[in-house]
Amino acid sequence: MLHVPVLLEETVSRLVTAPGGWYLDATAGAGGHASALLAAAGLDARLLALDRDGRALDLARAALEPFGGRAVLERANFTEMAAAAARCGVTGFRGILMDLGVSSMQLDEAARGFSFREEAPLDMRMDDRQELTAAELLRRLSPEDLAQVLRRYGEEPMAKRIAKAAGAALARGEPLETTTQLAALVERAKGGRRGRIHPATQTFQALRIAVNGELEALERALPAALDLLEPGGRLAVISFHSLEDRMVKQFMTAHEGRMESLARGGARWSGTLPRARRVARKPVTPSEEEVRRNPRSRTAKLRVLERMA
Ligand SMILES: C[S@@+](CC[C@H](N)C(=O)[O-])C[C@H]1O[C@@H](n2cnc3c(N)ncnc32)[C@H](O)[C@@H]1O
Repeated sequence: MLHVPVLLEETVSRLVTAPGGWYLDATAGAGGHASALLAAAGLDARLLALDRDGRALDLARAALEPFGGRAVLERANFTEMAAAAARCGVTGFRGILMDLGVSSMQLDEAARGFSFREEAPLDMRMDDRQELTAAELLRRLSPEDLAQVLRRYGEEPMAKRIAKAAGAALARGEPLETTTQLAALVERAKGGRRGRIHPATQTFQALRIAVNGELEALERALPAALDLLEPGGRLAVISFHSLEDRMVKQFMTAHEGRMESLARGGARWSGTLPRARRVARKPVTPSEEEVRRNPRSRTAKLRVLERMA
């Protein structure tokens, strides 16, 4: 199924504040947000769309075709957004969007190994030019390091038990090469199924985040994005789990700051530079209607920061 853009109207209405200008969609996916941004910003607006996944970029290219030369696409990690902008000759964006995580296409294409529902090689790479796969990561990590990955990126309470079971299986020469082999191992290690959520959900999330270096990429990209905004320009970030949202919130709060009065007169900015203001203090979340239509939007949180002059 083609990815259904999350919080679409809420994002576009906060990013497009005037006609024209350059926009950056750092996570193009199937191009849903990118098309809506260009349509809303009018005929003088242009957009640079990035994605590290070549197949996603093909879909985005098809979606953006009606906009002709107003859309420029490049396969790149968003950590390289400054270089991509320079190649287009853009010195400042009016709006930048980062819609984090994986797309429905990536989750649904069984062969990519993101899902435990179907048998496939344990791959999980968003960018297939990268060498490290999830199967390789499992072979490389010691049980202690694997437990840390599961705890840190999956908030998995039974991380130690799962990591020990994986280490023991590999030491016995048992294969841990496919999604269903890993899912079965996690289920056994956790003592079976309870409730509706599959016991391997957190393990799969943790491995995906580690394989793709998702949090490191976000940490590097947030300051790069703020630097690339023109004065008054806005950065919108949609996150899907608490680790990402925490990082986004802390980044935005640090740049928000305020003016502090000085004893000797005058005032001084007390936040991290460049100066910015949060467009709202609370994150925007999907309506009940959106969650009903698109259950994958359930955990989405949108935060918006505006660069000040
Ligand atoms: C949630 S989807 C975006 C969906 C898109 N907004 C739409 O309307 O179709 C996230 C996309 O970001 C891409 N992505 C994730 N991390 C990335 C990174 N560090 N650099 C570039 N693209 C990334 C993924 O490959 C995926 O296609």
